[in-house]
Amino acid sequence: MQGLVPTILLALLSGSPASAGPVQRRQEVVTQTVAASAPSAPTPWTWNAGGSQAWPIHESCNATERALLKKGLDDAATLAAHARDHVLRFGNSSDMFQKYFGSAPSAEVVGWYDKIAKGDRSRFKFRCDDVDGNCVLPGWGGHWRGENGTDETVICPLSYTTRKPLEDMCGYGYRVARGALSFYFGSDLIHRLLHMPSVGEGAAEHFADSYTECLELAAEKPAEAVRNSHTLQYFALDVYAFDVAVPNEGCTGKPAREEEEEGSHEHESAPAPTATTSSAPTTTSAAAAECHTHSNGEVHCA
Ligand SMILES: *[C@@H]1O[C@H](CO)[C@@H](O)[C@H](O)[C@H]1NC(C)=O
Ligand SMILES: *[C@@H]1O[C@H](CO)[C@@H](O)[C@H](O)[C@H]1NC(C)=O
Ligand SMILES: *[C@@H]1O[C@H](CO)[C@@H](O)[C@H](O)[C@H]1NC(C)=O
Repeated sequence: MQGLVPTILLALLSGSPASAGPVQRRQEVVTQTVAASAPSAPTPWTWNAGGSQAWPIHESCNATERALLKKGLDDAATLAAHARDHVLRFGNSSDMFQKYFGSAPSAEVVGWYDKIAKGDRSRFKFRCDDVDGNCVLPGWGGHWRGENGTDETVICPLSYTTRKPLEDMCGYGYRVARGALSFYFGSDLIHRLLHMPSVGEGAAEHFADSYTECLELAAEKPAEAVRNSHTLQYFALDVYAFDVAVPNEGCTGKPAREEEEEGSHEHESAPAPTATTSSAPTTTSAAAAECHTHSNGEVHCA
């Protein structure tokens, strides 16, 4: 390398007037090089060629489905972008952050949300044909195709008639703590996006399900909380409700069981439209749980 630089300089200098001293010659070299290459080379190389920010909606979706799916995916990106912005603004000093992610560093959380909000959209696809025959199953709003198509998700007709738009946030009795994670199309689709390997990378997964279990996970295993799909959904809903939809108030609410035990007369439970409804939390305290309902229906108490 040491011999190379003078050789190049000499080669370049040989075509230029050699009247000035060494410093000025260097400047001439630079000028000539730029002048020679600039007109001839508008570079054809685009670093992000092939990438896309358009939602990949399969041709099997009809006009109605396409419009609703696009709206739902836009809602997912809006929720994720706000969740990211909240964490970028407050980091772990946010009460909401500590509630859902405990003592975890904030960077991974920012990353998952940013992937959903702004990540490349060319590597996965949403389709509307019932290609695997699962949409007939009661309550199925859609499914990741798994081994039949790892970067594909089917959205079933049920989703289009039941999932709410983000504008409904905190309306119609919805409360974060006891509402279904699929109540809003946007939060439902955050979950479905995280199942796509190109988004969730096989790392964003299921470590805890219900609201109460997610809060326990934050306290006990923050490193799992930051990559728990349901936690990422709950946090996005809770901060959007509080920061944006109903400012400085939100609609966190309480887990269903807790409300019953307090003899609440509030009978405004949000309709739970879907397959992925979390099991009702069974604890009296969000922080110190004694019982959990498992997905097989068994209740385990410590
Ligand atoms: C927040 O992050 C800082 C490092 O930036 C750390 O010292 C502190 O313990 C964290 N706080 C919580 C509540 O996790
Ligand atoms: C994959 O396809 C097979 C055959 O059509 C089907 O039985 C199975 O349920 C599908 N898997 C998923 C995850 O839908
Ligand atoms: C699109 O498909 C849905 C079923 O998901 C159906 O109810 C609707 O009528 C269809 N829309 C059009 C314009 O064909």
